[in-house]
Amino acid sequence: MPGAGLYLHIPYCAALCHYCDFARVGETDPAVHRRYVAALRADLIAVAAAGPRAVAPPDAGIPAGWPTFTSIFAGGGTPTLLPPGDLAGVLRLASEVLPIAHDAEVTVEANPETVTSEGMATLVGAGLNRVSMGAQSFAAHVLDALGRWHDPGRPLRALADTRAAGVQRVNLDLIYGTPGERDVDWERSLRTVLDAGADHVSAYALTVEPNTEYAARIGRGEALAPDEDVQAVRMETAEAMLARAGLCRYEVSNWARPGHECRHNLTYWRGGNWLGVGAGAHGHWEGRRWWSVRAPARYTREALAGRTTTSGQEVLDAGARRSERLLMGLRTVEGVERAEVEPVDEPAATALVRAGLLHADERRLRLTRQGLAMADAATLRLLAA
Ligand SMILES: C[S@@+](CC[C@H](N)C(=O)[O-])C[C@H]1O[C@@H](n2cnc3c(N)ncnc32)[C@H](O)[C@@H]1O
Ligand code: SF4
Repeated sequence: MPGAGLYLHIPYCAALCHYCDFARVGETDPAVHRRYVAALRADLIAVAAAGPRAVAPPDAGIPAGWPTFTSIFAGGGTPTLLPPGDLAGVLRLASEVLPIAHDAEVTVEANPETVTSEGMATLVGAGLNRVSMGAQSFAAHVLDALGRWHDPGRPLRALADTRAAGVQRVNLDLIYGTPGERDVDWERSLRTVLDAGADHVSAYALTVEPNTEYAARIGRGEALAPDEDVQAVRMETAEAMLARAGLCRYEVSNWARPGHECRHNLTYWRGGNWLGVGAGAHGHWEGRRWWSVRAPARYTREALAGRTTTSGQEVLDAGARRSERLLMGLRTVEGVERAEVEPVDEPAATALVRAGLLHADERRLRLTRQGLAMADAATLRLLAA
């Protein structure tokens, strides 16, 4: 079982990308950011003081003390929109109130246009050792279609500043299959992240999320929806180019040099425990899931008033936990132990093996390369038992 993770959510962005439906709002007022940081600190202190029994199911029978946390992930939104000293203060606070391992993986999500080497150095001083940056594409017309506001060269300058501050581990996010993107654009994006020496790449197929600017543009006939066949070809290209460069696919959308996989995200995919603190953050502990108030203004009010910031929760029964484990675990190349997910639909498993989508032996289930391309659909067939 992996160690526990701590997720901290910073919900502010300078402007909103057309495709994105994460828990984020466009907000640049430093006074609002400051209040949010104060709220986040108060919430983190309260959650840490309450201990694991307050986040686990009532009958989980777990020790009263926290286990060691092996990762922190500050995501967004745009964490690097905050003054670096404020974000560094939150990272330091986490180490004061929770048992964070001395060699914990500490990641901050960064938007290229917000990165400076001084800011990164401040975060490194507070334990930062990994940066995940949204590059999305290195073609100007694709960035434009996505509603990104940095030029294609900006992520590389941000990467150089990040390295200058002493951060060696860098992930770059890419999005493929944006209408208007050509094969050569995608190949150039992949080549650029490889030439930049990223040790980790996340490549996501563009998806149309309801209630986004992108969905509205499609509705008005101003933009095209992504073409799934084109996206399938782009994925093949990614797989081939990244593998040739020594980056191994370890999850549906993630590649890393061996040993550089994201420990924090592996905790999610391996069914581990993590605390989620911040507006719209989700947490999971021993089968109980909860999520915080999504609207940052309300979250801030509740946390500063010392009230709970939890807006919903569910406790998974044994069957739901097995299904969840299967759904998350089969996203990874390592797959799942049968003992954790059985019973599965064995005739469906046999059919998937025959179709070349699944490897199944007595101990483990894992999707093949073709299976990963349709991970959710394949998994749902196994669940139908
Ligand atoms: C939570 S976002 C934060 C990243 C950071 N704020 C940035 O934009 O640079 C994480 C990543 O999710 C991906 N993403 C978000 N919405 C998406 C969508 N609709 N389709 C595909 N990828 C998406 C993007 O690659 C993005 O970098
Ligand atoms: S992709 Fe990143 S910068 Fe763009 S709106 Fe989403 S969280 Fe904000």
